[in-house]
Amino acid sequence: MKILVLGGAGYIGSHTVYRLIEQGHSVVVFDNLETGHIEAVHPDAKFYKGDLRNREDIDNVLDNEKDIDAVIHFAANSLVGESMTNPLKYYDNNLNGTKVLLQSLVAHNIDKVVFSSTAATYGEPERTPILETDPTNPTNCYGETKKSMERMFYWVEKAHNLHYVSLRYFNACGAHISGEIGEAHSPETHLIPIILQTATGKRDHISIFGTDYNTKDGTCVRDYIHVTDLAQAHILAVQYLVNGGKSDIFNLGNGVGFTVKEVIEKAKEVTGKDIKVVEEGRRAGDPAVLIASSDKAKKVLGWCPEYDSLDTIISTAWKWHSTHPNGYSK
Ligand code: UFG
Repeated sequence: MKILVLGGAGYIGSHTVYRLIEQGHSVVVFDNLETGHIEAVHPDAKFYKGDLRNREDIDNVLDNEKDIDAVIHFAANSLVGESMTNPLKYYDNNLNGTKVLLQSLVAHNIDKVVFSSTAATYGEPERTPILETDPTNPTNCYGETKKSMERMFYWVEKAHNLHYVSLRYFNACGAHISGEIGEAHSPETHLIPIILQTATGKRDHISIFGTDYNTKDGTCVRDYIHVTDLAQAHILAVQYLVNGGKSDIFNLGNGVGFTVKEVIEKAKEVTGKDIKVVEEGRRAGDPAVLIASSDKAKKVLGWCPEYDSLDTIISTAWKWHSTHPNGYSK
């Protein structure tokens, strides 16, 4: 297949590009490099620098690249905290960018898109594991823009017959098994990279945000899902659409939750380092427990996570962080 990957220089996008190329597909990457890294783009992918909000940038790619079978759309901002202080940035990049993309795809008769959504569309869940049919009441603007993206695709399909799969990720983590690419955000806000940066000595300590939740050790529970398993789900979703599958929404998680303290203990074991921990108050907007039911993705897409143990997740992430303490910077 020939796949256009939007945001293919970012964390999940770059891992998906690697997986596509490893499986013999042809890949075109489009990224504005605002949060992505050119070093993360697989050397066998064709790269275009451009911004989705500029119609001519995406039109140029689609005019040049014939026979694209499907588009995988990762190009978005994804920091929960930032979305609360700068919501218009999220409306502009995530929603306006997607609107321009859809205008260009409709004009170029491209009718299959797989895109990133998030567990943040659910907000505070009424029960766990969370099913795709559960209510979506986002508690932050990031989740709200992703929910609105899903609705935009819903209506565009009705008018223009463009088919889509929305993938609602839980906590993406880990790194490519080679250690060549991995997670590199600036600023970094995610738990596992911060723990491992503490292990490399780049940070003094990891702060635990809240120890008074109603969980087994008082810290939040999350469903950690390896980035390569997420990547594989995107490829399966493309194949599903190519085979005539109907538009749909799928959760992607492991169905197992770990507390913040459990993740820190596992990281101490994997790295062999003493990781300094400071207990602090709760972070605003954190639900106590987020665990996915991914039965639907397993059943309909045939998805089967391979890297699902916490040990593998942290070991692959550690391979990346210990060899790239400054991320992609030299
Ligand atoms: N945490 C800490 N200390 C830190 C960082 C995080 O204790 O320094 C805690 C958080 O409070 C939370 C857990 O670790 O309980 C996981 O936090 P992350 O920031 O790694 O991830 P989130 O669960 O907040 O968010 C992730 C993605 C979002 C997505 C959400 C959906 O980053 O994009 O999952 O569940 F919306």
